[in-house]
Amino acid sequence: GKTVTLHDIDPSLVKITPNPNPGTPLPSEKLSFGKTFTDHMLVIPWTSTEGWAAPEIKPYGPLSLEPSSVVLHYANALFEGLKAYRSASGRITLFRPDMNMRRMNRTAERIALPTFDGQALTELIASLVRMDERWIPSEPGHSLYIRPTLIGTQNALGVGPSTSALLFVICSPVGPYYKGGFKPIALLATTKHVRAAPGGIGSYKLAANYAPGIIPQLEAAMEGYAQNLWLQGKEHFLTEVGTMNLFVVLRGEDGATELVTPPLDDVILPGVTRDSVLALARSHASTPITGLPPSKDFRVLERPISMPELVRASKESRLLEVFGAGTAAIVCPVDRIGYLGEDIHVPVGEKGMGPICEIMHREIVGRQTGVIPSDWAYVV
Ligand code: COI
Repeated sequence: GKTVTLHDIDPSLVKITPNPNPGTPLPSEKLSFGKTFTDHMLVIPWTSTEGWAAPEIKPYGPLSLEPSSVVLHYANALFEGLKAYRSASGRITLFRPDMNMRRMNRTAERIALPTFDGQALTELIASLVRMDERWIPSEPGHSLYIRPTLIGTQNALGVGPSTSALLFVICSPVGPYYKGGFKPIALLATTKHVRAAPGGIGSYKLAANYAPGIIPQLEAAMEGYAQNLWLQGKEHFLTEVGTMNLFVVLRGEDGATELVTPPLDDVILPGVTRDSVLALARSHASTPITGLPPSKDFRVLERPISMPELVRASKESRLLEVFGAGTAAIVCPVDRIGYLGEDIHVPVGEKGMGPICEIMHREIVGRQTGVIPSDWAYVV
């Protein structure tokens, strides 16, 4: 028989159709997260018989899908989020795109959607970002949010691996998550709903993980809390904050400062910002970071942490900081956690965030914007 070779994504085949009606970017101070989009999008169709077709960069616009398309019925959909930055010198970089490509492939495998060469997609995203370069805001705290998405497009109501798929990438200029400086948020430690279950899909960036969080968030808002603190198990282990990973800073029994985050397992999304915070904190032992405690008094721990432990640390004045970490907000300080009818207060000081949160923000933003040279910055 004849062997069929499926095509991988091939950047050299890209077909480019410039937008004949380029838009006008909003003034930077009017930007809100993910509401306006650039002139172009990247589209790459896939079929199970041919593999990946020639990529296309074309005007941003509607997709055409039949109502029988599997994605509309069974949520065969996943996404990524990464940002492009313009440095003071005009250099344009992506932040750690290899991490997003690895995670996107891992998520695709989980729902029988096609995988691809991550470097090839990164090169195409770089081409898209270069074409829409004028949409990258350059004010501090601003960036271009890039949304790669992969959906199953087979027209079929049977539940099975989709025989066709569509990968697309759209871009949205975004401002700082918090206008007018950092505002700490209050969390509701949620015991009524769970975000993810052991053996489930919480560690994959599947679209299906996000819509079910909307009602719990509205319920938390009715009680005066901005986001859910997602818990796990009868022990009430802390897992994530809204759509972000979670960090807790404790004073250890021996007086050392402990930066704690739950270990990666099947209820924790392997966040790029999470990984960056951990890598920076661990690098402190060999390359000291200004402002962190001396490395002999500073521990970085991926370990389970429960609400009873947090309550006890708070009562003993050993709870120093809580913050979320994600691509959209970078870091998000927490000043209050509602749990079983009582509020735990978390110190944030006059700056609205604790020192470790502030240092991590400074170190990550420095590497994103090119102020601190880093191989995490991918030049487009
Ligand atoms: C994050 O960056 O924290 C996210 O999870 C993206 C969000 C808009 C879904």
